[in-house]
Amino acid sequence: MIDYPKIKTKDGSLTLKNPHFNECYHSSEGAVVESLYKHIYPAFEVVKKDEVNILDICFGLGFNTFLTVLTQKDKKINVFSPEMDENLIKSLKEFDYPKEFQSIKHIIKSISEKYYYEDERVKIEIFIGDAREYIKKLKNIDIVYQDAFSPKVNKSLWTYEYFSDIKKLLNKEGVITTYSVATPVRCALYKLGFNLYTHPYENIRKGTIASLSKLNFPSADFDVKLKRLGGCECLRD
Ligand SMILES: C[S@@+](CC[C@H](N)C(=O)[O-])C[C@H]1O[C@@H](n2cnc3c(N)ncnc32)[C@H](O)[C@@H]1O
Repeated sequence: MIDYPKIKTKDGSLTLKNPHFNECYHSSEGAVVESLYKHIYPAFEVVKKDEVNILDICFGLGFNTFLTVLTQKDKKINVFSPEMDENLIKSLKEFDYPKEFQSIKHIIKSISEKYYYEDERVKIEIFIGDAREYIKKLKNIDIVYQDAFSPKVNKSLWTYEYFSDIKKLLNKEGVITTYSVATPVRCALYKLGFNLYTHPYENIRKGTIASLSKLNFPSADFDVKLKRLGGCECLRD
């Protein structure tokens, strides 16, 4: 099926290394830890609705989506997720996920075979193709898991123009979570009017949490940094 090298992360979960981007799908901190603490926990501290629309950029091995389904059991979850690597999606039913994923084996199989899953609580739609094209069709999103490969190797998913499209689809009370702390990325979000925060948890490297609303997280103090730098440059298309 797919022969990308397997890497064991610190929390015991497996991830892969993508040979084309030359990066791993998760940091060495752990696929599960990263997904929960960088994305799911902060996002659901902000969004308290009963039904939540999530944009998962991009699906990859699906840890962000699958762990959302496993941990947010009292919510209706609608996930929209682009992924350009069709062979990876097809191979997911063979992937060695943590044993906690056993209860959603039927969801993983459906995603892998039909790129779609739906029951009364969960709906997941995978778009095979370019995320930049897909996001133009979306609206009314509450949470964006911004989990692309790094800006160094996957610039088109971190530019001012990209985040400008994200701003259009995101609800005013919505939130973007990402592992990236790169100044050009924060600069794009800042110039688009997002408030920037960092993760409040001690057990992980901090990333960025962005929202058009004020949030109760530690500030990223980006305006202080801007004054020190005398301005900043965003990544551009
Ligand atoms: C860091 S991985 C995502 C990890 C994922 N969240 C997980 O839990 O496994 C980035 C993914 O983005 C996909 N990708 C890169 N550029 C893309 C694009 N322009 N459109 C759609 N998918 C893209 C890659 O194929 C890869 O699967």
